Formats: sequence, C-alpha cells, structure tokens
Amino acid sequence: MTGTSAAAADQRVLETLRRAFGFDSFRPLQAQVVAALLAGRDVFVLLPTGGGKSLCYQLPALLTEGTAVVVSPLIALMKDQVDKLVAMGVAATFVNSSLEPDEVGRRLRAIERGEVKLVYAAPERLMLPQFLDLLGRLKLSFFAIDEAHCISEWGHDFRPEYRELRRLRRLFPDVPIGAFTATATKRVQADIVAQLGLQDAARFVGSFNRANLFYEVRPKETAGQAYAQLTGYLREHELESGIVYCATRATTEQLAEKLRDDGIDAVAYHAGLESDARRRRQEAFVRDDVNVMVATIAFGMGIDKPDVRYVVHYDLPKNLEGYYQESGRAGRDGEPSECLLFYTYADALKQEHFIREKPGELDRQVATQQLRQMVEWADTTSCRREALLTYFDEPAGLDGGVTPQNRPPSFPPPERCCDNCREPAELVDYTIPAQMFLSCVKKTRERFGGAHVIDVLRGAQTEKVRRFGHEQVSTYGIGKDRPQEEWQYVARQLLKGGYVRQAEEEFGAFKVTERGNAVLFQGEQVVLPRPRLRPARPKKQRVSRPGTAGAQPDVQVSAGDERLFQQLRALRKRLADERGWAPYMIFPDTTLWQLAMERPASFADLRRVHGVGEKKLADFGQLFLEEIAAFDRD
Ligand SMILES: Nc1ncnc2c1ncn2[C@@H]1O[C@H](COP(=O)(O)OP(=O)(O)OP(=O)(O)O)[C@@H](O)[C@H]1O
Ligand SMILES: [Mg+2]
Ligand SMILES: [Zn+2]
Repeated sequence: MTGTSAAAADQRVLETLRRAFGFDSFRPLQAQVVAALLAGRDVFVLLPTGGGKSLCYQLPALLTEGTAVVVSPLIALMKDQVDKLVAMGVAATFVNSSLEPDEVGRRLRAIERGEVKLVYAAPERLMLPQFLDLLGRLKLSFFAIDEAHCISEWGHDFRPEYRELRRLRRLFPDVPIGAFTATATKRVQADIVAQLGLQDAARFVGSFNRANLFYEVRPKETAGQAYAQLTGYLREHELESGIVYCATRATTEQLAEKLRDDGIDAVAYHAGLESDARRRRQEAFVRDDVNVMVATIAFGMGIDKPDVRYVVHYDLPKNLEGYYQESGRAGRDGEPSECLLFYTYADALKQEHFIREKPGELDRQVATQQLRQMVEWADTTSCRREALLTYFDEPAGLDGGVTPQNRPPSFPPPERCCDNCREPAELVDYTIPAQMFLSCVKKTRERFGGAHVIDVLRGAQTEKVRRFGHEQVSTYGIGKDRPQEEWQYVARQLLKGGYVRQAEEEFGAFKVTERGNAVLFQGEQVVLPRPRLRPARPKKQRVSRPGTAGAQPDVQVSAGDERLFQQLRALRKRLADERGWAPYMIFPDTTLWQLAMERPASFADLRRVHGVGEKKLADFGQLFLEEIAAFDRD
C-alpha cells in the first residue's frame, strides 16, 4: 500500500468507527488489528477481557467485500451481539440451535444471496457439511474465531467442538483466519496458532495488567463461618453489582437461596439450568434488577456488563488462567473494582481428590500442575499483580520484585494494588517448626508424604499412625499446638524452598535435602512470611472482627473458655433446631468465642460483642447471659 492509499484507508476506518460504532478513537492495538485483517492477513489477537476484541473483527468485516464468519461458543450471547449490530445498521445474523428450522432456512438463503456481512455460528454448526457447502459457494472475507483458547486442551476452557475448526484452513485455504482470546499462556498461544494452521500471522498481544482491579485473598473459614464472611463482604457492597463464583451447581442454588433469605438480592446461574431460566437470570443481572450473581464458571464469558464492581471466588478456582479470566469480569469500564478470593488449603485438597479420580494420566498431570500454581498464587505474600503478570509472561522486570516502595509505573499505588502491597506480610522465624517437620520426616524414615508427617507431628490417632507404630517416634505429637493448616503451609514452604523434595517413585514421599540437613544440623534459619491462616480453633483463637481479619495477635484460650464455648454452642443448636434454622443464623462462632472469653454479664456488655445486633440481643440475649452466669457459678 502506498502512503496516500494507507492514509485513505485509515480515514475510511476512522469514519466507520465513528459512524457505525459511535467511538472517537481506538483502544490499544485495535487499529493495528483492523489494518492487518483489511490487508488480508491471518491475525492472532490477545487482549484482556473488555479490551474490545469484537470491534477488531466487526469493523473490518464492514469494510471488506464478502461475508465474515464469526465463530463463538456462546449461543446464549449470539443474539445480543447480533441485535447490537443490527441496531447499528449492520447486516449481521446468527445461525444456531435456538432457532426453528424454518428460520434457519430463511437465514441460510439470505447468507447465500450475499446479503449478510457478518454471520455468527457455533463451531458445531459451522462444521456441518451443509453449512460448509454453503460457505464454499460464498465470497468469504475472513473467519474470526472468538474465545480461541477453547481449542486448546492446555487452556482453562477446552471445548472438543472447537477442535474441529482445525479443518477450516484446509477447506478454505485462501480465507484469512483471525484468532481472538483474552487469556492464553505461551503454551496455549502456540497451540491456538498450530491448531488453526495460522500462516505468518500478525500477532497482537496486549498487556494483562488491569490497573483498576484490586486483588485480595482472605483465609476462608469453615462452612457456617465462611458464609458469614461472605455476607459481611456483600453487605459492604450492597449497592453494587458483583459476581460470586462457586465450584458446583448445587452450591450456587443453595447459596443464592440462603442469601435471599438473609435479605441479599441474589440469583443463581449454572449450566444445568433451562436456557430460559439462564437467559432470565442473566438479564436480571445485566439490567441491575438483581445485584448479586451466584454462578459457576459457566457464567460470564463474553458478557458485556461493564460495571461489575467485584468478583468473589467463594471456592478455589482450578487454575490461575481461569481465575484471571473470571476475576477480570470486574471493572470492564475501567473503574476501581475488587477481586476477592476466599481461600483455604482444604479446598485444594478436595480438588486433589477429584484430580486423582480422573482417568487420563495427562489430564491428571495438567490439572495437578495448574492447581499447584493456583495454590502458590493464593499463598504468595508478594505482589499478586506481579505474580499474575509473571504467569502470563509479562514480568515486572524489577530487581527484588515489586514492593510497596519500588513499583513499575503501570502498577497502581500499594493501597489499590493488592492485599500484599497494602499490608506487607511480616516475616516470622519458622526455624523450630521447620526442624520439627524435617526431623519427623527422618524419624518416619522418609517414606511418607506431607499429610502423614503432619498427622504424626500433631499426634493424630489414624489407622496409618497405628499401623506403622508412629505413636512411638519421638516427634509424635510435638507439633500439636499448631493447626493442621499451619503445618500444611510449613510443608509447602519447605518444598518450595528446597528443604525437602518429593520422590516421584514412592507416591510423593518426602526426602530431606542438603539444605534441609543444614537446618537440622548446622542451625540454618528458616524465615517465612506470616501465613494468612484462618483462626485456629479451639487450641488457639484469633477472634476476627470486621475489617481486621487475620491481623489480630494470637489469643490464648483456656480450657474453661473452651468448655463454655461448647456449652454455648449446644445452646445455639437447641435454639436453632426449635426454629428450623442453621445454628450460625443465631450467632456465628466468632461471637460464641468472644462470649466464652469475655463473659459479658449485662445487656450493655453483650451489645459490644461482635455479631450481636439489637434484634438478636432482644431474642437471645437473656438466654446466653444466663448460660454464662450459670457456668461461672459452677
Ligand atoms: N474503541 C472503543 N472505544 C470505546 N469503547 C469501546 C471501544 N472498543 C470497544 N469498546 C467497548 O468495550 C467493551 C468491551 O468490548 P468487547 O466486548 O469487544 O471486549 P472483549 O475484548 O471481547 O472482552 P471479552 O474477552 O470479555 O469478551 C464494549 O462495551 C465495547 O463497546
Ligand atoms: Mg469478547
Ligand atoms: Zn500488589
């Protein structure tokens, strides 16, 4: 293209941008992608969620002779996208299984007559012989493969139907192909290019840094308490839209119902719903009729709700890529928004269990590696933004990593970056627990994995402990004053730091390394960031009050306090049963612990306790005061 014709093309592009889309300027990389498609090249486009990928293929489709074919996995969203285009005066249509056969026929004939500039189809439709025949008779401008990561088994959202798209290149050798995705590691990128047979593709990779998102991980408590943590958060964000992701369909339904019972406006969404219900609920959310969407990861891909202010993960995601994508649905409008993950290592163990059930060896390996990366991210005590970007091969490039003082210009200030930048983790001397752990590995003859070593340290009475006579070893029970979660943290850190290694041939048995020996025998110190653990009960108790969770110093709980706590729990259970409630609906455990330790004697004292509102005070205050007074008399 000569200089003047390039300028003329630019002019035409800008005009179309303004006229058809009503935008004054391009977002980063959009102009370049449009130019490459107009030049008839294959393109590979990686822009984060909300980066504006649709426009990258919609605009050139309008300026090219022939019909563009857009492949999308999202049947539920095709109509919205096409409606939006038609409203802009663009000749667009979609063909999918939601249409009556008659209607499909009408649309196919319109396509055949060359009346359509953009046709949207799901891959399974596209690859039908009849549809391919039709396309073969048309002048095609290009194929745009949206959500292209779905083609890769290494991605977080592999769809077997996408695999069929490999045949496109051979069937239509002269038609350019564009691949579009928001999330792809190097491996997934290479896979997309290879599978689609892209030739000398123009590559456009945008930054993954979403500067308006704040990343936070909070220790997730046990069942009833975790719910209280969630509602606490949701109440702080009452007037905003947000998504709560859960691991299972059943959880989404139960949780949404519970939230509604507690006066929080929520709907559930998952792939098991009738398409009608899905549409209605999605619509209610997008239209701000409901504020909280409780969903499995089936919800959200491609949904253009710009003002989602927070995304909560109530369960641990399976991998970091998926997490980035899901959390990225917050703040598409560029306004400050939050990404909050409730994390307990117990969730990872649950997933490990499911991974072990998977049939394929390769599947197991991939899933295990992905889970490990997810756990590392959740555990990290350095900048979470930096860790995410590093995962996507976009290192911050600072010696010594990103700190509150030393940050790349593209990073927001510490208080708007992530929890670790806002409150850097304190370093704690873990030499003694490390020595206990390492020596327990040795005492059990380096034949067991972390879980059993921890059982021995904590003096657990398991069948395995008895079978191997491990009550007899000198390290049995020496670690019982630290909760299991803290030991799991120590074990992971020792592995990561190379103090122990896992033998592949012996079911992952731990072996002490040279470095571990140095800790045991040469006094090498082990200093670790203070873990963000959930409050340990009942041995040690950190009462978390709103806004200060995890930052409280340890509080010693006496045996008496613990007995009273159990008594109050029994009272709570009785009251709950009488009402057909779950016990936490009366008071959360945090409240019971505080009651047990502070032993309020009057309504005035009681009112100051966490979780005791006026209604609860009136309904239950007297009963709890009596229980406490009776205990103190005994
Ligand atoms: N040049 C532009 N100027 C202003 N707004 C734009 C521009 N390009 C796109 N947008 C808007 O940005 C929003 C996100 O665009 P789009 O849906 O294409 O994102 P995406 O990259 O496909 O994200 P996802 O990966 O989540 O599907 C839309 O509301 C779109 O209208
Ligand atoms: Mg999109
Ligand atoms: Zn940070």
